[in-house]
Amino acid sequence: MSKTMVDAKVVCQIVLSEDVKLIEVFAPDIACIAQPGQFVNVQVSKQAAPLLRRPFGVAEVNREKGTFTMIYRIMGEATKILANICNNDFINIIGPLGHGFSLNAKRPLLVGGGLGLAPLVYLAQSFSKDSVEIVMGGRTAKELFWTELFSDKVNIMHITTDDGSQGTKGTVNAVLPQLLKSGKYDCVYVCGPVPMMQAVAKVVETAGIPCQVSLEKYMACGLGACLSCSCGGVGKRLKVCTDGPVFWSTEVEEW
Ligand SMILES: Cc1cc2nc3c(=O)[nH]c(=O)nc-3n(C[C@H](O)[C@H](O)[C@H](O)COP(=O)(O)OP(=O)(O)OC[C@H]3O[C@@H](n4cnc5c(N)ncnc54)[C@H](O)[C@@H]3O)c2cc1C
Ligand code: FES
Repeated sequence: MSKTMVDAKVVCQIVLSEDVKLIEVFAPDIACIAQPGQFVNVQVSKQAAPLLRRPFGVAEVNREKGTFTMIYRIMGEATKILANICNNDFINIIGPLGHGFSLNAKRPLLVGGGLGLAPLVYLAQSFSKDSVEIVMGGRTAKELFWTELFSDKVNIMHITTDDGSQGTKGTVNAVLPQLLKSGKYDCVYVCGPVPMMQAVAKVVETAGIPCQVSLEKYMACGLGACLSCSCGGVGKRLKVCTDGPVFWSTEVEEW
């Protein structure tokens, strides 16, 4: 799949919570070809540090405007710099990278937790609204600013919080088995922390429904050259940056 390197102009940054921001960039060459589940590799500064680019999922695309968004948690050096970049500044971006989600489902169920919900925004946008349901998990109601981002893209939202401050108390698996019993869904798409994805994949596989997972590994090159992102697949090693980041759950043996 073709990728490009661009100096992308920052259109805006929006604060979503204490430590999460949405950034919209003007990069028509990437916006016009990016698929749900693909990611981009961002150089946040022209200075020597940080040396490595950082990967972020494509969260939403507006092909008419030539823009796309990323939603990121302010974690360390690179994301702190990113958070302070002003409108009309430029950041260098390589993308789109990797393989995204297979979009063949007619009745998709999306399952996300934490920042794993970011790539699911674009995925939801790619289906007709009436057909999509989502299970969203968070630690507390405060983390569920996501409901606004999904409200015009999904038919039904199922919400869980660890502390029960919104929706059902518990993890996404508190509601999943019951939902799957309905027989409504023909594919489940999962992105979030590894223990959550493993637990969800097990339940979904047991129900006999195809399941796609989006993995996150430390990445250096993002281009398949350095092997820093490798993980164990069935009978072979997988490079998350080029073979993934999206896999069928049954392809992954060592997460
Ligand atoms: C394919 C892919 C897509 C991603 N999409 C998003 C996204 O949409 N939004 C988002 O906020 N983040 C996303 N990430 C993670 C993001 O790349 C890291 O948060 C970012 O690189 C942190 O950079 P930093 O310099 O701010 O923090 P660093 O100083 O590099 O790290 C800060 C802390 O975060 C941990 N950390 C950093 N990178 C990772 C990682 N890949 N996995 C687990 N822990 C990590 C470190 O151990 C450290 O504790 C994605 C990662 C991958 C591989
Ligand atoms: S990040 Fe270098 S091979 Fe995947």
